[in-house]
Amino acid sequence: MKDQPNIAVIGAGVIGMTVAKLFQDQLRNANITVIAEKYSADTTSDVAAGIFKPGTHFKGSTKEITKKWLTDSWHFWQDILKSPDAEQMGVMPLGSYIFSKENYHVTRNHLIEGLVPIYRPATKEELKMAPEGTKFGSYFSTLKVECERYLPWTGKTLVERGAKMIRGKVESFASLSNYDLVFNCAGLGAKYLCNDYDLVPIRGQIIKVNAPWVKHALYGDYDTYIIPGLNGMVTLGGVRGFDSYNLNYSKYDAADILERCCEFLPDLKNAEVIAHKVGLRPHRMPVRVEPELIDGLKVVHCYGHGGNGVMTAPGTAIDAVEIGLNFLRSNVRNKL
Ligand code: BEZ
Repeated sequence: MKDQPNIAVIGAGVIGMTVAKLFQDQLRNANITVIAEKYSADTTSDVAAGIFKPGTHFKGSTKEITKKWLTDSWHFWQDILKSPDAEQMGVMPLGSYIFSKENYHVTRNHLIEGLVPIYRPATKEELKMAPEGTKFGSYFSTLKVECERYLPWTGKTLVERGAKMIRGKVESFASLSNYDLVFNCAGLGAKYLCNDYDLVPIRGQIIKVNAPWVKHALYGDYDTYIIPGLNGMVTLGGVRGFDSYNLNYSKYDAADILERCCEFLPDLKNAEVIAHKVGLRPHRMPVRVEPELIDGLKVVHCYGHGGNGVMTAPGTAIDAVEIGLNFLRSNVRNKL
């Protein structure tokens, strides 16, 4: 292996930035270049509320890998939470309720029930916090990551340690043939880069409001959620538009989200609206974390996290970085 290998990371969302940071931690002398069309505020990661609550469909290539990704991710975020930098990095503890009028199963989450410190049924008193007719509920203790802070913090640390950030679109892997190793963290962009038809956008839209009095996250039926963050900012959601590429704000979605959220907390009607945001979640089952030799170029794919990217970025990045280090050290020149 070269003393100072040249590493490219495609994508500057939460996956690309976490991979770049963890790789730099492992190999401090590597020349790392992040190449992305969008940074920080323009990324899909920045739209996501970033609560640690994986969709129950989330999966890697095996059950063991899925569990490892979630466990590693949880501990990564917990370590930050215990550090003095937590707030600056956008990581905060959060209690959350899931309520349903109709379906007990949506209040359960097998992926985190053994992982988070508390996961219990909601009490009769707590059920009264939910709209009339709510029959089922759970409470769990979790955390939230604000990419508005986490991405700039990670970018600053990377650059201070010598990494470069370039704005640009990677049209093909052939254009990166001068690198020793490439991490493909292109999110939905990987669809075209890899001709991967298993990668599908799931359109999301949210409203950011100023409502410092909201102290817990609340989930309801029909993808309804209210997620408080730092500085009194609350994310209201959401929608799931399967295979939709529409990045335009929809006033109909916004009205629907607000109506559903106000069923929980009527005072949200009067909250100051800070922003409406739309993002396309890069959904793939399973999430792809694997090496591929493409015309002699060593590529490690890490994409397809859907709406679970923020919470699961560290676990998948730990695997991607380990695969990358082994790949870099190997003499493989032919198809894997
Ligand atoms: C969401 O988790 O609701 C979401 C994530 C990314 C983009 C839009 C919405």
